[in-house]
Amino acid sequence: MTTPVTLDRDRVRELFDLRGAYLAQVGGGYHGDPYPAWHRLRAEAPLHPGTVHELTGYDGPAHFQGLPYPDRPHFSAFSYAACDEAYRNAEVFAASPTPIDPRTGELAAQNSMLSMGGPQHRRYRALVQPSFVPGKAQWWIRNWIEQTVHLLIDSFAAEGRAELNVDFCAAIPVLTITGSFGVSVERALDIRAALRDPQAIVEILAPVVAARRAHPQDDLISVLVEAEMTDEDGVAHHLSDAEIYSFAVLLLTAGSGTTWKQMGITLTALLQRPEVLTAVREDRDLLRPAIEEALRWTPTDPMFSRYVTRDTDLHDVHLPEGSVLHLCIGAANRDPARWDRPDEFDITRKLRPSFAFGGGAHVCLGMHVARAEMRVGIGALLDRLPGLRLDPDAAPPRFIGLYERGATEIPVVFHAATEGNGRE
Ligand code: HEM
Repeated sequence: MTTPVTLDRDRVRELFDLRGAYLAQVGGGYHGDPYPAWHRLRAEAPLHPGTVHELTGYDGPAHFQGLPYPDRPHFSAFSYAACDEAYRNAEVFAASPTPIDPRTGELAAQNSMLSMGGPQHRRYRALVQPSFVPGKAQWWIRNWIEQTVHLLIDSFAAEGRAELNVDFCAAIPVLTITGSFGVSVERALDIRAALRDPQAIVEILAPVVAARRAHPQDDLISVLVEAEMTDEDGVAHHLSDAEIYSFAVLLLTAGSGTTWKQMGITLTALLQRPEVLTAVREDRDLLRPAIEEALRWTPTDPMFSRYVTRDTDLHDVHLPEGSVLHLCIGAANRDPARWDRPDEFDITRKLRPSFAFGGGAHVCLGMHVARAEMRVGIGALLDRLPGLRLDPDAAPPRFIGLYERGATEIPVVFHAATEGNGRE
């Protein structure tokens, strides 16, 4: 028997509303469409001095990975080719300006493999990579994604209307990751809230880590406690608690907000194009290209940064050692040199890899989990909510935010489930 999901919706809203204070600092106050400015900038030159938000004309708070470093020179790349070149050259374009040590440093996503380089990054990444390969997607779906998705739909299927952005899209990734940590649904939101105070995460995870060290189970914390890492000096050791917490904070930070907003972007794109939604409903094989096209068309995080380790030239621009290069992957994903009609959301276009999941050594570890969450989530909505469409009486969804983009709200109506059209 499954336990009903009892999530406090008001608390979910407070933690996940893109317009809330939590996200204001990453450019949540930006309500415009950045793509015209990015097209103009890319047409002028592939690289410009300045940050993406300055160049886009936004002067509100816009903190993100790579910002702020007011004393360093900043440059931003807007073409696919320039981003590609930087992603491929991790020696010159490093993920962190300083060395990283998750065993001793502060507990934060930045103090994890996200910011490491070379062999150190490879060693840490190799420990978790086997749990995130395409062949493991079913493990995630079966253990956590499928039941989360259906229990959430159960909570509104009889009502005939729902707000999918927060009540559905936001909840899936956070419950998937906390579920994989062995944390209960009741405590899942405490974990999300604790991202403001990572020490609180330790308090929630410490008993789980101790329990898994004693009795490993079929979950991610067990993978981490059992993992053995060989240091540079050839000595093998198990991960310390601090290293496990650092992985956990990284996965929570990197995997929950992103997938939530990307699923909302994909759903919005489909709901705003009823003929495309119908095509996907009738031929579920179209769901994959729809997800990939949404990732290209509007990646939720359109900018990541790299640190220049020695004087170099990139596309005729001199980048001094110590400067910061912002890769505007949102602009790169609509580069007309790579995609025809780049502003169009077209699920029939020939698939070419985009930078929505980044590139090079740090390419998103969780991309197959994210894809599985979006596929299972949207597929289940189409299976279980006949007549699903945007609520004609509510304000339509809009995309807002600069460094974390997502939909405001996704109000929908559908034929309410009665006995017989619910889940078997
Ligand atoms: C649609 C959802 C997602 C998007 C758009 C996304 C995007 C990205 C991007 C662009 C990067 C590279 C950052 C850089 O170049 O500095 C990245 C890295 C990463 N992502 Fe994701 N991500 C998503 C979902 C997830 C999920 C579900 C997880 C985990 C469960 C995850 C875990 C990670 C990790 C651990 C890294 C760092 C990898 C490394 O440093 O080697 N992501 N992600």
